[in-house]
Amino acid sequence: MKKLIYFLFVLFILAYSCQKQEKAEPVLGLVTDRAMVVSAREEASKIGSDILQQGGNAFDAMVGTGLALAVTYPFAGNLGGGGFMVYRKNDGKIGGLDFREKAPLLATKKMYQDENGDIIPDKSTLGSMAIGVPGSVAGLFAVHEKFGSLPLESIFQPVIALAKKGVVVTSKQEARIKKYQPFFRLVNKDSIPLEYDWKTNDTIKYSALALTLERLLENGQDEFYKGETAKTLVSFIQSQGGIITLDDLAKYEVKWRHPIEFNYDNLKIISMAPPSSGGVCLAEIMKMIEPYNLDKYGHNTVKSIQVITEAERRAFADRNYFLGDPDFATMPLKTLMDDTYLNERMNSFSFKKATPSEEVSHGDIEIIESNETTHYSIVDQFGNAVSVTTTLNGAYGSKLYCSELGFFLNNEMDDFSSKPGTPNMFGLIGAEANSIAPEKRMLSSMTPTIVEKDGALYMVVGSPGGSTIITSVLQTILNVHEYNMTMQEAVDAPRFHHQWLPDEIRMEPNSFDPEIIKQLQKRGFTTNEKDSPVIGKVDAIRILPDKRLEGGADHRGDDTAVGF
Ligand code: DON
Repeated sequence: MKKLIYFLFVLFILAYSCQKQEKAEPVLGLVTDRAMVVSAREEASKIGSDILQQGGNAFDAMVGTGLALAVTYPFAGNLGGGGFMVYRKNDGKIGGLDFREKAPLLATKKMYQDENGDIIPDKSTLGSMAIGVPGSVAGLFAVHEKFGSLPLESIFQPVIALAKKGVVVTSKQEARIKKYQPFFRLVNKDSIPLEYDWKTNDTIKYSALALTLERLLENGQDEFYKGETAKTLVSFIQSQGGIITLDDLAKYEVKWRHPIEFNYDNLKIISMAPPSSGGVCLAEIMKMIEPYNLDKYGHNTVKSIQVITEAERRAFADRNYFLGDPDFATMPLKTLMDDTYLNERMNSFSFKKATPSEEVSHGDIEIIESNETTHYSIVDQFGNAVSVTTTLNGAYGSKLYCSELGFFLNNEMDDFSSKPGTPNMFGLIGAEANSIAPEKRMLSSMTPTIVEKDGALYMVVGSPGGSTIITSVLQTILNVHEYNMTMQEAVDAPRFHHQWLPDEIRMEPNSFDPEIIKQLQKRGFTTNEKDSPVIGKVDAIRILPDKRLEGGADHRGDDTAVGF
């Protein structure tokens, strides 16, 4: 018997080491020579890639892919939401576009509280009161106006054709639709197309959306913000009890904002500035971990997880207190990203023991994770790069669907701090800087990012995932730079997340060595493998040393890289 056990043990070790050896072979994502689009749906990536193939640039492809995601991925792709874009042109010039939603003119600081000051359940997440004034359509038109090279006609037409022809349901999509159908029924007075019992391989036609897109093509951005579409949208929202007016739509404007830039080793990271917290938070974390030898510690080892977690804890504590819409709140951005300040922040760090979050600040919250935003990355054949994250916030946003126009409306108002100290749907607690005010933009975690290495374009990265967006982008960059992974491996590798409060490391289930979890717990960390089946859903592109492109399309979704 002893012999048998010994034999089985040797067999196990052999099998394990073989597996390890196999893992040592790098796993590459799609590799192309010149151009690539990576997004949440193959159909959307293909439309973007076709636009590039016709001679369009990354900005044309951004518009096409963004519109195509509104058709193919109603879960998060949208006309009724908002987002951010970071770009780097082939001459090295960088910039950022904020097409984030705004609070309506009739919004008030305590609109989600009852007369006792308690949060009214669901008011900021479900139905008409949750909607922020949408920015996506203005964002796409602004990008085309400033940088587009193809006529809008050739960008819109393939998307309109796809909406008319219909999009095939994937198995992941079938599950998502099923999961949210009870909410569609709860929120919408009339039945909506996604209430039908859709099965994998069925084709859903989006005829109302196709008509809306045709009107947008014919009449331009004003159609959405001032024209017939605006009137239909406002009367629909108001008939459902919402407060958005024609004035709100007419006053909506995008903002071009200079991105956050910082260095990490020989990399330059370019990411979104407030009202997204992404760039600042990423800068804080990366600058706090830079002095440590992560490459020596190894990927997802106790030491690496400790350093990254402690930096995340400290950065999120700052994020929640200091950050908000720069047009409304004064923020100490320089100090937050200052080396001396960040070194001091890490003074209390020790490998021996976790720093309890109460010692960094306090709060008491719960969290549930999801991936209801969508990111797409583009590099064109001219060397321009575009990194875009767009969202309805929750899955299918407020769940309110305007049947006449064919799209869902966001529930982005929940990203405001409805009451200081009370968590939003991502468990994030906020402060005065992110309180509600008319026309203010709610703080975001979206982190569309571009990385340069030794002065040249190196990576385009981004993710959905609420607060976990920032840490997913962080780990993807580190996986390539510190741990020597390919783009695809970096995207697929198991992720963890700490956001100060709740004071726990969330980890993707069954992905981390139990011994590592035990060691972390021994050092005083609370680990949680339950609440986040996945953390982030990254779509990224890496420029290989020979200038070809490698896509990283996250295996956690239907994400696909297409290019040539
Ligand atoms: O802007 C934000 O940070 C959130 N509205 C993003 C939402 C998101 O990523 C949804 N997916 N989990």
